[in-house]
Amino acid sequence: MTKYIIKGGRPLHGEVEISGAKNAAVAIIPAAMLVDGVCRIENIPQISDVTMLLNILRRMGAQVRTVDRHTMDIDCSAVRHAKADFDIMTRIRASYYLIGALLGRFGEAVVAMPGGCNFGSVRPIDQHVKGFSAMGAQVEVKNGLVVASTPDGPLHGADIYLDVASVGATINIMLAAVFARGVTRIENVAREPHVVDVANFLNAMGADIRGAGTNVIKIRGGRRLTGGSYALIPDQIEAGTYMAAVAGAGGSLLIKNVIPKHMDCITGKLEEMGVTVEEGEDEILVSRTGPLRHINVKTYYYPGFPTDMQPQIATVLCLAQGTSIITEGVWDTRYKYVGELLKMGANVTVDGRKAIIQGVECLTGASVKAWDLRAGAAMVIAGLCAQGTTEIEGVDYIERGYVDLVGKLKKVGADIRSVDIPDEDEQEIKIG
Ligand code: EPU
Repeated sequence: MTKYIIKGGRPLHGEVEISGAKNAAVAIIPAAMLVDGVCRIENIPQISDVTMLLNILRRMGAQVRTVDRHTMDIDCSAVRHAKADFDIMTRIRASYYLIGALLGRFGEAVVAMPGGCNFGSVRPIDQHVKGFSAMGAQVEVKNGLVVASTPDGPLHGADIYLDVASVGATINIMLAAVFARGVTRIENVAREPHVVDVANFLNAMGADIRGAGTNVIKIRGGRRLTGGSYALIPDQIEAGTYMAAVAGAGGSLLIKNVIPKHMDCITGKLEEMGVTVEEGEDEILVSRTGPLRHINVKTYYYPGFPTDMQPQIATVLCLAQGTSIITEGVWDTRYKYVGELLKMGANVTVDGRKAIIQGVECLTGASVKAWDLRAGAAMVIAGLCAQGTTEIEGVDYIERGYVDLVGKLKKVGADIRSVDIPDEDEQEIKIG
């Protein structure tokens, strides 16, 4: 087990380089299953979710070659079956993209129900299943397995209206539709940058997908995907997390390798709080010297304020003057981390989907836990802002989605270190 120890109260100064987008990588790696040839993927983030997905592909027979630290060649042409490794699948959410990819390629898929961050509410896949079924698949969920098949012949194009603009369902249906006969039209789709990135990747490999980034995506199925090179977009949420960190801790950070347009929803809110944000072509300079103002934030589907930035912005608002209200508009609940902030002296009340934050003078270091990936990032921000020492447990979650968070923060002046602690079993053995 690893924990982070942060001595807070130091402003951040310098430059930080943003890595490739996690939520694009975890969809594009399974999408390589549809390609008959080598896909060279550049700007791959070195995070544990990516490692796990690459291991799933390897165990299925794919060739994965590391070209350099950020570039991989993936060749799935030798994969001969549609059953993915059960153990690894249950540990990550994005393993569900293998359902669409395997169903598209083999007409069948046997995969474990996905794991991943647990916000305290069930994470359904009914919209994925609805899309696959409309294309002629039969999907059963039993004993922790998703079993999809096409007993009545190959998948065919269909008109599908999503009840919610789900990122996962949009991408998964797109993957299955790439080899379906005819045209698939998906309405009320997610418009997140990583959805567009997956469509661009598939098109670069030879697919015919139009409309990604709008409300309707059309896929003309049946084209052979033959391979090629593709560079992932930078991670919007990683960039947003550093923006929030400097907003909270103070100082000035040049955040490099970003697409400023993707950051608009976050930039706007930080500016309302009194933070200065200057945009360059592929970088943004974020500075905060004065006090923070209270604001209200409602998370929503892109281009709304991302739910994956909700814990981080809430943490910064704990130090803003006055009362701020956060409304979670995507998940039923995502406030498990609030209990940890309370240990640090924050004043937050949760009422259903709302969190009411009364700003306090300062946070105080404490021993806290990362309940999930973004909650963990929020704890790091809290630790950077707090007086005294904060110890964060459960950082495996953080390392699933952030490339070298500790190293990147150290470089910009944070006093943060990662220490290995023996787990309880090991300790007992040693004591015994
Ligand atoms: N939903 C349904 N039915 C479905 C699918 C989703 O009702 O079949 C609902 C969910 O319950 C939720 C909403 O639709 O209320 C949005 O869920 P979505 O499917 O968009 O979420 P996801 O695909 O499971 C991805 C990201 C999450 C991010 C959400 C929302 C990946 C691997 N995960 O999850 O990212 O919170 O979209 O933007 O792309 C994170 O990176 O920390 C993270 C959790």
